[in-house]
Amino acid sequence: MGNSIKGLVLITGTTSGVGLNTLKPLLRFGWEVIAVNRSNKRAVEIAKQFLTDSEMKDVHFIEINLSDLNDVRDGCNEILKKFKKPINSIICNAALYKPRLRKPERSPQGYENSMAVNHFGHFLLISLLLENILSSEKEIDIKGKTTKFRPRITILGTVTANYSELGGKIPIPAPADLGDLSGFKNGFLSPISMANGKKFKPGKAYKDSKLCNMITVQELSKRFPKERIIINSIYPGCVADTNLFRDTPWLFRLLFPIFQKFITKGYVSQRLAGERVAQVASFKEYAKPGVHWSWGNRQKPGRKAFSQKLSKRIIDSDISRQTYELTRKLVGLE
Ligand SMILES: NC(=O)c1ccc[n+]([C@@H]2O[C@H](COP(=O)([O-])OP(=O)(O)OC[C@H]3O[C@@H](n4cnc5c(N)ncnc54)[C@H](OP(=O)(O)O)[C@@H]3O)[C@@H](O)[C@H]2O)c1
Repeated sequence: MGNSIKGLVLITGTTSGVGLNTLKPLLRFGWEVIAVNRSNKRAVEIAKQFLTDSEMKDVHFIEINLSDLNDVRDGCNEILKKFKKPINSIICNAALYKPRLRKPERSPQGYENSMAVNHFGHFLLISLLLENILSSEKEIDIKGKTTKFRPRITILGTVTANYSELGGKIPIPAPADLGDLSGFKNGFLSPISMANGKKFKPGKAYKDSKLCNMITVQELSKRFPKERIIINSIYPGCVADTNLFRDTPWLFRLLFPIFQKFITKGYVSQRLAGERVAQVASFKEYAKPGVHWSWGNRQKPGRKAFSQKLSKRIIDSDISRQTYELTRKLVGLE
């Protein structure tokens, strides 16, 4: 492998769960990895427990707190200065879920924090790195085979943000819905905490932020031709035992994985979820624009990924254009 041409992949949130478990398969497929986390020290310590010394040499750690738009700008500048070759693939994985908050937590810019981390931080990161990634089409080695690799962005979506699926209709506290976007239109600062401008519901704030993630995929796919870049989302399955659920009641944390394993059969191990994310970000068979890749809600061994039907709330062209344009304003790109 002396002549190998390693591609460069960036992934956010590798200190636990899906992101941590995506590292090993990415390295196995031949990538050099930029791991973006809010604490490099913690990210390095955790990665060392999972990876060999030789694998660690191919991981570069960049510190960005996705909650803080200034930090995202500084981190992206650092990336653009530090790496001589462009990024080929970006995976937006990091997320925050705080369903028990009584009142909203705020980002340094004053935005409701789950929207800030999950949507705004990633939206700005993608926007600032877009020119770089668009310039990256070239031959790289994937699984030891030299492959012409089209630039790619993969965003983690979820079933609870997709009203077309049963999980997306769960009314606790309410399904994801951006409504008339009046919260965004009116600046999204205190006392506003929801995209639709209505009362704060922390569980819905998470679902709405993931809905924005999935809308971003659809809108970017319209704006940038598939000949230049492939942008898609993925639902890896219900990874019911990750730190994502750390702020849920202890009884929920105990019962939820059991419920998913034995009742709904939607449970997916962290390792399998990581493998799926790494594959969607790397392999040719997933290079289809605007697809939301899913393996379904009942896990069956050997089942292949398919393009999941998306709700009108995700694909409606007026909502997606408005969400995109309002987000550009809120993150300071206009
Ligand atoms: N678990 C599931 O069942 C499931 C299902 C569908 C989709 N997903 C999606 O999968 C992705 C990964 O979730 P997970 O279950 O693996 O969750 P997780 O174990 O909680 O991992 C989340 C990651 O995001 C990072 N993060 C949180 N806030 C951040 C910030 N301000 N700046 C930078 N990084 C931050 C965390 O870092 P810290 O250690 O610093 O907090 C951690 O590395 C998410 O996008 C989630 O929506 C999960």
